[in-house]
Amino acid sequence: MALQQELSMDLPVIDLDLFLSAHRDSEKVINECKKAADALITYGALVLHDSRVSEEDNSSFLDLLEDYFAQPAEVLKKDERPELSYQIGVTLENTEKPKCAVDEPCLRIIEKLDPAERPLDISAHSPDPKCRFFWRMSEKPPYETQFPGLNASNIVPEAEGLRERWTPIMEQWGKSMKNAVANLAEMTAVGLGLPVETFREAGTYGPHLLAPTASDLVKYGEKDTILAGFHSDLNFLTIHGRSRYPGLHIWARNTGKRIAVKIPQGNYLLVQAGKQLEHLTGGLIKAGFHEVVVNEKTLSVIEARKVQFPDRPLIRISSTFFWHLNSDFDLAPIPELVARAQVMKDEQVRLGKDGEEAIAYEPMKVGHHVQNELKHIALMA
Ligand SMILES: [Fe+2]
Repeated sequence: MALQQELSMDLPVIDLDLFLSAHRDSEKVINECKKAADALITYGALVLHDSRVSEEDNSSFLDLLEDYFAQPAEVLKKDERPELSYQIGVTLENTEKPKCAVDEPCLRIIEKLDPAERPLDISAHSPDPKCRFFWRMSEKPPYETQFPGLNASNIVPEAEGLRERWTPIMEQWGKSMKNAVANLAEMTAVGLGLPVETFREAGTYGPHLLAPTASDLVKYGEKDTILAGFHSDLNFLTIHGRSRYPGLHIWARNTGKRIAVKIPQGNYLLVQAGKQLEHLTGGLIKAGFHEVVVNEKTLSVIEARKVQFPDRPLIRISSTFFWHLNSDFDLAPIPELVARAQVMKDEQVRLGKDGEEAIAYEPMKVGHHVQNELKHIALMA
């Protein structure tokens, strides 16, 4: 328990520049990699510093997406692809449900939290009032895939003023985040004592998605509105650029505390662990829970932007990228890491900490894992 209280509420900042510039076998690189892996084990999240990422690219991206989602719903609807489980193009608001609301183990996670640290109540299980756009950033696998439905081509909006800007901006920002997260996957492997390419290679042909979400703050701008209910992500690692509006809360696994995320200005990104990483590490790293809500700070930014940018749409865009493992990859826990997860669990029991539920990480294809998860969040029939 004492250990829990001593943990800092500030997420560790990992220096990707160091990993890219110094010798891979040097002590400082190895230590930075360990710091990254430990951050994911302890917090399920970290802040990543990457000088290659430009604030200006994030800004053009946020402007583009605000303009896109300011269009009428009938126009947006043309970019919907329900027959592809919404895995490409737009998902309109009130479609995706937070899985946790009907998921017993997940509800128990909430119950175990101190009431003051709990997420906003999702038990009514109404779908999230957020829209999303999926822009695929994957390479076509050079082998025959069992999961071709998840590898369809991208949709470009038709409207003039958006059509021409769309692809270059999406690609530029998407590539920045993709490179950063793929390098972090390498750092994480090294930090866990695995060969550097372990995760990166397993994700070379993953169906990666640039996946901004949009929340209409005119309609959903009241305090304590849930924009995205408490959940964790189904992919391997999720990376975020800075949003213009605060409101993202994350829960650090070993602290039980809700953390209001602040990404420093400049070349910083936020990374959270997803369920594929949890599965592959046998639960040594747990997928990080998070929610997006309208809090006090969101309200002050709304008021400030109304004055500063009266002509801009009041839409909260989250700059999110989902990095996946290859759909055909066999997702089976890595034995060394399972052993380490067990040691950690035993230690928690010894400390008298309320043990985490035993989860069986059955071996399966990543594509099947994704399909199971999508059924739970109502995106797949
Ligand atoms: Fe999420």
